[in-house]
Amino acid sequence: MSEDKRNNPEEIYIKVTKDGPYLVYGNPKITQEYIATNEHGTSWEYEKGKECSVQEGDTPVALCRCGHSSNPPFCDGSHIHKHFDGTETASHEPILKNAKAYEGPNYTLLDNDKYCAFARFCDAYGQVWKLVMDGEKFTDKLAVREAFRCPAGRLMIKKNGSEEILEPELEKSIGVLEDTAIQCSGPLYIKGGIRVEGEDGQSYEIRNRQTLCRCGHSGNKPFCDGSHAAYKYKDGWDDE
Ligand code: FES
Repeated sequence: MSEDKRNNPEEIYIKVTKDGPYLVYGNPKITQEYIATNEHGTSWEYEKGKECSVQEGDTPVALCRCGHSSNPPFCDGSHIHKHFDGTETASHEPILKNAKAYEGPNYTLLDNDKYCAFARFCDAYGQVWKLVMDGEKFTDKLAVREAFRCPAGRLMIKKNGSEEILEPELEKSIGVLEDTAIQCSGPLYIKGGIRVEGEDGQSYEIRNRQTLCRCGHSGNKPFCDGSHAAYKYKDGWDDE
């Protein structure tokens, strides 16, 4: 598949199915990604792991969202005998609508904690909320870096005096997160503005960074709310 086709917004999208998997259309890259830590043990960077072989042609790829598949990250039909309840509870309102603003001297951090995926990139070298309030050159740079790495898009940042939210450039692709520091598997990291369509046909706000629950326990389905950490969800992909 050509890069042009990969990046065509009409081609790549995700459909949430009723009590079943995510159907991924358009064959974006799907790669395992480890959350790597810095010397203090806090989340710092993404490291690539295994890459999934993608489907050819127009057939969608079915990714597990119940947390029980024995062929991760793909669906193996386990949701049926596990009687998975995948009822969507997330709002269709723009994420900014309920975001809290932390205005520092140079930048403003916007935070909608409903979307926290517990990836903890916001903790490195002092928490991002404090860094943005400090307003030093060094802390501003760190605050932007930490907001950019928040996979859920919970954390957004803008320069004061501008309405434009700053965003990292991300190729339309899917990361299958693995959180080594707390030894559990995480959500699907949906990058680059891929449209997610609910089971009822209504699309969610298209965002550059989003995380979709795949452990089955989120209270904000289809999005991750960090529950995978409490449940110590392990997809078993590395056990193969
Ligand atoms: S993967 Fe995070 S709550 Fe399910």
